[in-house]
Amino acid sequence: MHKRNRWFITIGLAYGLLGGGIALTFLADPGLIPGNVPRIHGHIMLLGFILMMIYGIALHVLPRFSGKTLYSERMATWQLYFANAGLPLMIVGWLMLTNWLVLLGGTLSYIGIALFAANIILTVKPKGPWS
Ligand code: HEM
Ligand code: HEM
Repeated sequence: MHKRNRWFITIGLAYGLLGGGIALTFLADPGLIPGNVPRIHGHIMLLGFILMMIYGIALHVLPRFSGKTLYSERMATWQLYFANAGLPLMIVGWLMLTNWLVLLGGTLSYIGIALFAANIILTVKPKGPWS
């Protein structure tokens, strides 16, 4: 497995543990963590745990399932950087209730998703007709 995909999976698992810990802390004492805690928890779980896990597994498995090599390893590595710059900025933005930081982080996360989408489409698209 590519080192970058291992990173995606490891980071995803770490976010899962972090997001679960934040939710449990919030349930135990709702005032302890500042900002919009449910949003932070929800996006750590979805963009952090679930999506990073999907990224790591899909980048490894989909080229193999389709009998191709990944269209661009460089795009996938940039995807790792964008995804992991974006989510922390969103978290800090929600902690500080600072919308422009969430917007900036969200834009970087979105670029990560777009790179992934383009890379996977260009990897799995058949040479001939689609059906
Ligand atoms: C570790 C176990 C988990 C606990 C204890 C937990 C607990 C919570 C709590 C207390 C809330 C806030 C409810 C409120 O608004 O008062 C919440 C919201 C939420 N949780 Fe979890 N959760 C867990 C796992 C997950 C997982 C695995 C996911 C997704 C993969 C998830 C996704 C969400 C989402 C999307 C929200 C709504 C966030 C929002 O309103 O912006 N949670 N959870
Ligand atoms: C580009 C990345 C993303 C950005 C910038 C973003 C941003 C936001 C914002 C600003 C809100 C709050 C909206 C409000 O004020 O009510 C929100 C809510 C939410 N987002 Fe995201 N999000 C992103 C990705 C995702 C993804 C990938 C998922 C799920 C797979 C998701 C699930 C949710 C959920 C469940 C809520 C709570 C909706 C509710 O109020 O009940 N988000 N998101």
